[in-house]
Amino acid sequence: MNSLHKVIINKNTKSNPIWIMRQAGRYLPEFREIRKKNPNFIDLCLNNKLSYKITLQPLKRFDLDAAIIFSDILMVPYGLNQKVEFKKNFGPILGELNIDNISKVSEKEFSNKISPVYRAIKKVSEDKLLKNKATIGFIGAPWTLLVYMINQQSPKKELKKKFFNDKFLINQILTIIEKFLKIHIKNQIDNGANVIQIFDSWAGLLDEKDLLDYIYAPTLNLVNYVKSLNVPVICFPREIKNYKEFCQIVKPDAVSIDYNIDPKKIIKNIKIPVQGGLDPKILLTNKETLKKEALKYLNIFKDHPYIFNLGHGVLPETDPNMMDYLVKMVKDY
Ligand code: CP3
Repeated sequence: MNSLHKVIINKNTKSNPIWIMRQAGRYLPEFREIRKKNPNFIDLCLNNKLSYKITLQPLKRFDLDAAIIFSDILMVPYGLNQKVEFKKNFGPILGELNIDNISKVSEKEFSNKISPVYRAIKKVSEDKLLKNKATIGFIGAPWTLLVYMINQQSPKKELKKKFFNDKFLINQILTIIEKFLKIHIKNQIDNGANVIQIFDSWAGLLDEKDLLDYIYAPTLNLVNYVKSLNVPVICFPREIKNYKEFCQIVKPDAVSIDYNIDPKKIIKNIKIPVQGGLDPKILLTNKETLKKEALKYLNIFKDHPYIFNLGHGVLPETDPNMMDYLVKMVKDY
């Protein structure tokens, strides 16, 4: 059994496995080198030899307990034939959403279009570096994908007023997204993913009154689907207004917390295994501060099943030596 399963399934509190969101990325010089030669991010995600190699880069440097496949949540709209591009220093830009076009995409067409992602997962999960470690597959939550597909780029602090104008259209899109997310989950598991994480990066944009329709109901549906395939599922509803209610309704196997929520409040209210929390900006300070802040999480979750991670992705300006220090410190705790 790998160390993530021990925490999530067996509720082990004796060890603190660690992996880091965006662990394969721009803070690593070896990633930047590959990236420089591959200016098209989507093409890079679809190059299974390189995405396999990138996925393993952080595991070669640090004693991490999981590999997360180098891909992106936006490979799903891409697989649905919506245009997706990544602009330097700006982020993702999506093309106009055409409901007739995405309705026509078949399961086979979708799976074929992004099949290199599945080939990379297979190679990663079979690699000797993954011995006793988890291979994490992931999806964007329906809500976060809906935000990108309609907004066509990252939203700033809030949604445009007209976002909810066409509820009929929104429901049509959600139905299609859910169908293809299930296909994407199944394909990843069939190729060796043994944990699934659901990223809901924009959960914090919604008022409590909208959580049921756009987060609880669609996410519960997917969580139940992952569970039916006998694979544990971690949810990361970033900055959601109510983590306790989310866990009570959606019942993921583990919940990943962001850095704005007080971990003391979480330990009081949440009984399931917890992951993450540390502010990625702490890695930009110094070793002393990093140790102090990481110890805060380790001590609070001392008797609770806990997977060490950050409260959001590691920042590109992070010094890999700080990451090394953090991984060793968590392992020695
Ligand atoms: O190491 C890992 O965590 C696995 C790979 C991974 C990426 N994106 C690679 C990536 C994962 C799990 C994601 C998820 C993802 N993608 C999310 C959810 C998590 C979160 O950050 O909230 C979201 C919202 C996206 C969409 C996305 N992809 C954005 C907004 C951006 C641009 C922001 C940025 O950091 O530049 C990306 C690009 C992206 N995805 C990069 C990486 C390594 C940077 C690409 C580059 O090299 O320029």
